[in-house]
Amino acid sequence: MEELERRDAEALQGGGRARIEKQHAQGKLTARERIDVLLDEDSFVEMGRFVTHRATEFGMGKERPPGDGVVTGYGTIDGRPVCVYAQDFTVFGGSLGAAHAQKIVKLMDHAMRVGVPVIGLCDSGGARIQEGVESLGGYADLFLRNTLASGVVPQISCILGPCAGGAVYSPALTDFVFMVEGTSYMFITGPDVIRAVTHETVTKEELGGAAAHASKSGVCHFVAPDDRSCLLLVRELLAYLPSNNAEDPPRGPTSDPVDREIPELDRLVPDESNKPYDMLEIVRRVVDDGHFLEVHHDFAKNIVVGFARIGGRTVGVVANQPLVLAGVLDIDASVKAARFVRFCDCFNIPIVSFVDVPGFLPGVEQEHRGIILHGAKLLYAYCEATVPKLTVITRKAYGGAYDVMSSKHIRADVNLAFPGAEIAVMGPEAAVNIVYRSAIDAATDHEAARQRFIEEYRARFASPYAAAELGFIDEVIRPRCLRMRLARALEMFATKRDRNPAKKHGNEPL
Ligand code: HXC
Repeated sequence: MEELERRDAEALQGGGRARIEKQHAQGKLTARERIDVLLDEDSFVEMGRFVTHRATEFGMGKERPPGDGVVTGYGTIDGRPVCVYAQDFTVFGGSLGAAHAQKIVKLMDHAMRVGVPVIGLCDSGGARIQEGVESLGGYADLFLRNTLASGVVPQISCILGPCAGGAVYSPALTDFVFMVEGTSYMFITGPDVIRAVTHETVTKEELGGAAAHASKSGVCHFVAPDDRSCLLLVRELLAYLPSNNAEDPPRGPTSDPVDREIPELDRLVPDESNKPYDMLEIVRRVVDDGHFLEVHHDFAKNIVVGFARIGGRTVGVVANQPLVLAGVLDIDASVKAARFVRFCDCFNIPIVSFVDVPGFLPGVEQEHRGIILHGAKLLYAYCEATVPKLTVITRKAYGGAYDVMSSKHIRADVNLAFPGAEIAVMGPEAAVNIVYRSAIDAATDHEAARQRFIEEYRARFASPYAAAELGFIDEVIRPRCLRMRLARALEMFATKRDRNPAKKHGNEPL
């Protein structure tokens, strides 16, 4: 017993008081403190507390701290089991050597066997320099596990300190990346190397801080002001998700009636087709208790994605946002939404799409950066998805974007439209200039003729009824009934079983 107590005490002190104080002085929690915040009280069971490295080079043999710089184990979040690892920056800077990697690999194998989410709390100087290729091999072992676990169990990475070099690729392979303002960084090479190679001067924060990855690169899905709120946000996210791909998401408690009418929805979408409005106003009014957990809030704001519940069932929301760039689909929006749709499809989460989209963004820059390729990602994701897909067109659904945004043709289950919806190849103004150009030119009053043709076009094509007559729209609904309609559809399609053709895997346009 004495030996156990001595070893326990040694393991619990991590890299020692001075390093822990340095960690605290930076506003960071230690690995064990983080696990305590993340998991239900007293639920953590540690695995591999006494694992140490076997390296001897560079004086490593003298120091063999128990645990080797990572705390691994399992516990519960809201009573549901999860696996967690937390890198301990106070031990060798949380760097990853062979033993450190083996601990994470063992944990991930365990998570896969039992089908529970894996949460990585990353705070690491990357590959442990003293262990050379064994460190690199350790990362590769981890990358393989991340890839094999993808789509089987949810994987979440919290970046809670530096994350440099190849170390960023494990988080990149996971489903959601969380970062903390001011203390977390991700980059493949830091500012010093960049200055030497490209002569660019940049700070760590500008290069790979939370704001940069949340708004520019899109690598980061959630930003929190500190460790504690970051970990609590992980708990919030997990409440929407199943533990693995064979389960349905958990039903959430709600007293919000599914047949609740929302009278203000009848007036929320402006009649003028170019006037902006906030699609989130609709989403929040429709979902249970107004709760919507937005993913990727700062990236490609012209499309909104996130989780909510309707009638207690988790749904993934994809919504064009007319407030930003009129809700147009550009490269970033397509990639953002595609990734989200694929996540929902992996984990049996029905997708509700709120559509008001003028089309794909035209322009030389977008074309040359590959809007064709990247836009196809969203198309591919929606086509491939076999979960229940519900679509509501609130106003515009033009051109290719009509097809892409979960149209009936690509296996959406329920397609609704508001009475003011406009579904057409293009907007009336652009269409009449092409179709009626010679008639307009021949008219004595060009402008009057143009307006007359616009009205004619609008009446015939820019309404939901041509699509409804063809069965492409199942129902034109009063907006106030939207929640009720979606709830019923979710109930109806809860047992949906759809399959894609047998294949090794598709060849998504990457
Ligand atoms: C071994 C490391 C280490 C590493 C940090 N430490 N990184 N030990 N291997 N990679 C140790 C330091 O020696 C120090 O030990 C302690 O951790 C804290 O480090 P500091 O430098 O004092 O902390 P700080 O000033 O906060 O700076 C943190 C840091 C910096 C930005 C992470 O340490 C750093 O730049 N480290 C190297 C990052 C890096 O280039 N890693 C390799 C990337 S290549 P003491 O004993 O003094 O406390 C890679 C390849 C992966 O990862 C391949 C996969 C594809």
